[in-house]
This record gives sequence, C-alpha cells and structure tokens, in this order.
Amino acid sequence: MTLDDDLDAMEGAGTGNTRGLLVALAAVAALVVAAIAVGPLLSPRPEADEQAAEGPAAALAAEGKRLYEWRCVSCHGETGVGDGPIAGDLTGPPPGDLTDDDWKHGDRPDRVLAVIARGVDGTMMAGWDTAFAPDELRALAAYTYRLAGRDVPAELLDGAE
Ligand code: HEC
Repeated sequence: MTLDDDLDAMEGAGTGNTRGLLVALAAVAALVVAAIAVGPLLSPRPEADEQAAEGPAAALAAEGKRLYEWRCVSCHGETGVGDGPIAGDLTGPPPGDLTDDDWKHGDRPDRVLAVIARGVDGTMMAGWDTAFAPDELRALAAYTYRLAGRDVPAELLDGAE
C-alpha cells in the first residue's frame, strides 16, 4: 500500500460517511415535515365557542409572555415565583410570588395594570409605561394572571383588536 492508496481509502471512507449523514438528515427532515403536517390533523379542533372565548385572551397572554421573558424574568423568574437571576441582589422588598394568587397590590385588573405601568415607589419594581405601549402593558398584565393559573380578565381585552 502506498501513501496515495491510503489517502484514496480515507477519502472514500469520508465521502461514504458524509453521504450517510446526508441521508440521515434528509430522513429526519422528512419526519419533521410529516409531524408538522399531520400534527394538527390529529389534535381535535376546539369548539367554535371555545375559540371565540379563548382566542383574544390567549393571543394577548402570548404577547405578554414574550415581553415578560424579555424584561421581567430577571427579577420575577421564568415561572413568576420571584427567583430571577438578580432577584437576590435587589434593595427593598423582594419581587414576591406572582403565581400564589395573593398579590400584595391586589388582583383587580386595574390594580395589576397600574403596578406594571407605574411601578411601586420605594421598591425595585419600576414603572414600564415609558418602555411599553398601552396594549403591551395589558398583555403583560394578562400574562401575570396566566402565571397564577388564572383566566385573563375581560377588562384587559378591551380594545385588544
Ligand atoms: C428589577 C427587578 C424587577 C423587574 C425587572 C420587574 N419587577 Fe415586578 N416587582 C419587582 C419587585 C421588587 C416587586 C415587589 C414590589 C412590592 O413589594 O411592592 C414587584 C412587583 C410586581 C407586581 C406586583 C405583585 C404583587 O404582589 O402585587 C407585578 C404585577 C409585577 N411586579 C410585574 C412585573 C412585570 C410585568 C415586569 C416586566 C415588565 C416586572 N414586574 C419587572 C421587581 C421587578
């Protein structure tokens, strides 16, 4: 065996492996596409009424989740229990637990909205009304209810369309 033969053999093996990998990737891609195409067909379609009731609230809460994960998790934590990465370093009261259904500043939608919009004096909870538009503040309030496992109050949906 010469060095050239060795190199040829190595090249051959390399090509074979690459081809095998491509075939495997194509198979995985085909499975993913199939799952995406078939998945919705298998899960039952929600009743029309349920869709009407859930639709706007779910959309608002989903928008709120996106914003929450961006600006609120650092203190309130992924699940809202108040264990965000900087929660322990705050001066003043801790973020508290948003999931416990016993909110310090009340659970009426206007109260929750006011806390998020204007913050709480003497705490690290800032007002967010300069950072977010009114519909985004409503979305954040909606998601706060979802963190506690509660329905989004209808008041928050006003003007949601
Ligand atoms: C820098 C840390 C920090 C960030 C970021 C933060 N919060 Fe807070 N938040 C707090 C603290 C601290 C409190 C507790 C205030 C108090 O004890 O009165 C609080 C309180 C709250 C409350 C009231 C809870 C209750 O028990 O009444 C809500 C609602 C809330 N935050 C929502 C949000 C939302 C929504 C965001 C993102 C837009 C956010 N917070 C971002 C620190 C933070």
